[in-house]
Amino acid sequence: MEETRSEIAQREGFSSSIGVIAATLGSAVGLGNIWKFPYVTGQNGGAAFILIYLIAVLLGSLPVMISELMIGRKTNANAVGAFKKLTKREPWFLVGVSGVLSAFLIMAFYTTVAGWVFSYIFKAATGTIHSTNPEQTSAVFQGLVSGVGEPLFWQILVLGITGVIIMAGVAKGIERVTKILMPILFVLLVIVDIRSLTLPGAAEGLKFLFLPDFSKISFGVVLAALGLAFFKLSVGMGTMTTYGSYMGKEEDLPRTALKVMLADTLVSIMAGVAIFPAVFAFGFEPKSGPSLLFITIPTVFASMPFGRFFMVLFFILVAVAATGAMLSLLEVPVAYLVEEHKLTRRVATLLTIVAIALVGSTATLSTSLLSQHLFFGKNLFDLYDFVTSNILLPLGGIFFALFVGWRWGYKGMLVEFSNDGRLRNEGVAKIFFILVKFVAPIAITLVLLAGLGVF
Ligand code: TRP
Repeated sequence: MEETRSEIAQREGFSSSIGVIAATLGSAVGLGNIWKFPYVTGQNGGAAFILIYLIAVLLGSLPVMISELMIGRKTNANAVGAFKKLTKREPWFLVGVSGVLSAFLIMAFYTTVAGWVFSYIFKAATGTIHSTNPEQTSAVFQGLVSGVGEPLFWQILVLGITGVIIMAGVAKGIERVTKILMPILFVLLVIVDIRSLTLPGAAEGLKFLFLPDFSKISFGVVLAALGLAFFKLSVGMGTMTTYGSYMGKEEDLPRTALKVMLADTLVSIMAGVAIFPAVFAFGFEPKSGPSLLFITIPTVFASMPFGRFFMVLFFILVAVAATGAMLSLLEVPVAYLVEEHKLTRRVATLLTIVAIALVGSTATLSTSLLSQHLFFGKNLFDLYDFVTSNILLPLGGIFFALFVGWRWGYKGMLVEFSNDGRLRNEGVAKIFFILVKFVAPIAITLVLLAGLGVF
């Protein structure tokens, strides 16, 4: 007991319940909502895909999120250390190790895209992308991604900024920044939504977004929905374990997860409403992939009053949203290195961002110098994205669920789930337990195997 108390005293944590929500939401809301959700939805046929995505959230990523938060808070430790504290001489800690490695692969392509976003703040300010002509906005984007020095510069800048905040610590940076900027992002999305919805021809986009057409659904599409559900809620690699370890004993973890999930879903739908009506109004292809955000959003702004001002503001906020998510990705290896290898926070952060810069440059250059290097028909950027979202995160999710369902068991789980009975949520706990013990592991395994073409 003595030891536990002093350990907790040494660790920084979130300072309030609002801060807990802000930071967790700050992790969940990011490029996954504003960049990935619209383009993956576009590639996979719209509304039917969104429905499957929602099922994957409810049966898969939400229960895993609660599991991770509980494991983290119970142990007050990083993703690897948490399992080491809960089991002796059992290989469960490898789930954490895989999470730490996944963080590098995700950051590799995430910082590429975040770099594009940061550069768009300046392109918007100088008017380079201020055009309602799709050909011009897409030419600017092509120019950026086929370059070498420019995208690398932005990627390294992004890593530097994220690294500085992480070095400063958990509570002050992450918590304060996300608390102010999340509401502003929301208001801005409302404004863009209104503009997008009032464009001539907007109805086509709404149909695409809300009228399901199941003819486009295959196992590959279901796997993409599952992967997105994990990616968007930051689950399956120990981020929520790490953040859970910074949460107080009185936080209602299931309710926190539910709130974050609902807010995250709302932001995604709003991003879809910002983009798809405009896609159809300006004659873009909904299937155009990762470039979707970077060529359609400028045209929406260019067609509205004070468009240049709002466009700058919008990309600043996307940059902020991306930063909140990157902080949580970076925190996983940093907390691991600090606690398991006794490095200082500064050294751990430096090592991590240098390693990410090295891997990340191969993602950034995959559309220029390295564009001939294909693996399974994908360039490196797409490969890192596919392997993490569609394989490593769901796989991690299976093990987090199995751990709670089978290794921890009902009684141990219930203590964390209900704050030792004080929350009186035993009814929900039973449903949750069935989900993590049977439904999630079985469903995720089947989708993984079928989606990868194993059967
Ligand atoms: N959820 C974030 C987004 O939507 C990305 C992210 C942050 C993430 N931390 C993560 C994804 C951990 C997977 C695992 O942009």
